[in-house]
This record gives sequence, C-alpha cells and structure tokens, in this order.
Amino acid sequence: MAHLNGKNAIVTGGARGIGRAIAAELAAHGASVAICDVLEDEVAAAAGELTSEYGVTAKGYAVDVSDSAQVGDFVSAVNGEFGSINVLVNNAGITRDNLLFRMKDEDFDLVQKVNLYGTFYFCRAVGRIMAKQRSGSIINVASIIGLIGNPGQVNYAASKGAVIALTKSVAKELAARGVRCNAVAPGFVETAMTAELDETVREQYMKLIPLGRFAEPEDIAKTVSFLAGDDSVYITGQVLTVDGGIVMG
Ligand code: NAI
Repeated sequence: MAHLNGKNAIVTGGARGIGRAIAAELAAHGASVAICDVLEDEVAAAAGELTSEYGVTAKGYAVDVSDSAQVGDFVSAVNGEFGSINVLVNNAGITRDNLLFRMKDEDFDLVQKVNLYGTFYFCRAVGRIMAKQRSGSIINVASIIGLIGNPGQVNYAASKGAVIALTKSVAKELAARGVRCNAVAPGFVETAMTAELDETVREQYMKLIPLGRFAEPEDIAKTVSFLAGDDSVYITGQVLTVDGGIVMG
C-alpha cells in the first residue's frame, strides 16, 4: 500500500536509529525522502540504501539541526530540488544525562539547542512552505520523558516537554492553512541511545512496560507513517505515546 505516493518528506537525524527506520517506512510507502544528519558519511550511505531498496528518490545531507542558517539553507534546497515538502519529521535528538546538582550549563543548553531549537527551526522553515501549499503534515519525535519526567534527565525532559507544547501551538497556528502537527512520544526503544543503559537500569525500565519489551525503531516508524499520510487527516495537535503501555490516559 503506497499511501505516501507522490509525497516528499524530510526526516532529521535520519542516518541511524529511529530516524533511519522512519525514512525507510516512508520510502516503503512511496515517499521521496530527504534525510539530514551530522553524520555525513552515514547519512549519504543511508540515502543510497533507501534508493536501492525502495526505488524512491532519497538524498542525504549534512546538516546540524541546531544551526538556524543551515536549516534554512537545507529546507530551501530540498524545496527547490523536490518541488514541494509534504511531510516533516523532526527526529534528531540527543541526551546528556546527569543528576540535577551535577548538570553542567553546557549540557543543559546543548540538549535544548538540538532537541527543541532544531525542531523550532524546522517547523518555522517548512511550516512556511506548507502554509503556502495549504497542506502538509509535521511530526515531532518527543518522548514519554517529556510527559512524566525522569531522574538524571532534567535537560532532556525539559526539551521534550517543550517540543510537545510547541507541537500543540504549531497545530493551532497552522490548522487553518491545512497543515497538521502532531507528536509521537516513544517509550524505550532499542537504539544507540538506549544501548548506553546499564543492565540494572534496563531491567528497572522493563518492569514498567506492560507489553514487556522495548520498542523496535519500526514500531515508532509505523506510527509516524500513519500521521504522515491522509489516514490521519482529522488528527492534529496530538501526542501519540508509543511505549508499550507505560503512560495511559
Ligand atoms: P540515535 O542517537 O540512534 O539517533 C539520533 C540521530 O540524530 C543520529 O543519527 C544523530 O547523528 C542525529 N543527530 C544528533 N544530533 C544532531 C544534530 N545536531 N543535527 C542533525 N542530526 C543530529 O537516537 P534514537 O534513539 O534513534 O533517537 C531518535 C529520536 O527519538 C530522538 O529525538 C530521541 O530523543 C527520541 N527518542 C528515543 C528513545 C529511545 O529509547 N531510543 C525514546 C524516546 C524518544
């Protein structure tokens, strides 16, 4: 089912992990994809694989999402090359964990710059194009940590909570222009980010998950694909938790 045929999508942080799975899922459903990442070689390789695997147009770009000028240039380039932008997935994100009293200013700042400011720069640049087109779907990858908090992650929780608030505001601002904006809030996902967790922490997290396993990146990608396409045309300003049931209600 190629429900994204003819759509052009941007996925940030698309070189690996959840972003890469999202780009693959969108490509599998017929979308052309522009992926960006700070990992220059990896993002180029990932784009090449998408083209050969799914036969779609896929391009990789070296972009730091925390740099407003780079984001602006990238978005204009993609709009020029692809002709339109129909789907934006703000996925790039980082952690710099530490307990509150040990948290350094620069680690707090950096996490906001990438996770929150990056999302803002992209929503502004792509939102403008979508508003002119009078259509588009923006999906921001938040986290359940932005809803429930987590010890050792004040910086990350603050950034993801802010992404959720930003999502709702963008949704309200752009709804009349035919643009939707939703967030996906994953729980714990098997990626490089969670590979850093030690075994005891992992076991503690596992006890919180009613469905009894960490998510695979594809579990998140499928939800993003739904929000990207017209099957979700009446959904905006929502936060979909994809967490095996940790957060309910
Ligand atoms: P990851 O670390 O495997 O992938 C993140 C990607 O973003 C990497 O390719 C990285 O190079 C890229 N990136 C980092 N900083 C960037 C920047 N300044 N500019 C452009 N690209 C940049 O992480 P993962 O797990 O795939 O996470 C993806 C998103 O999902 C993040 O927003 C993360 O906060 C979120 N998330 C992840 C969860 C997990 O359990 N892995 C749970 C909840 C949310």
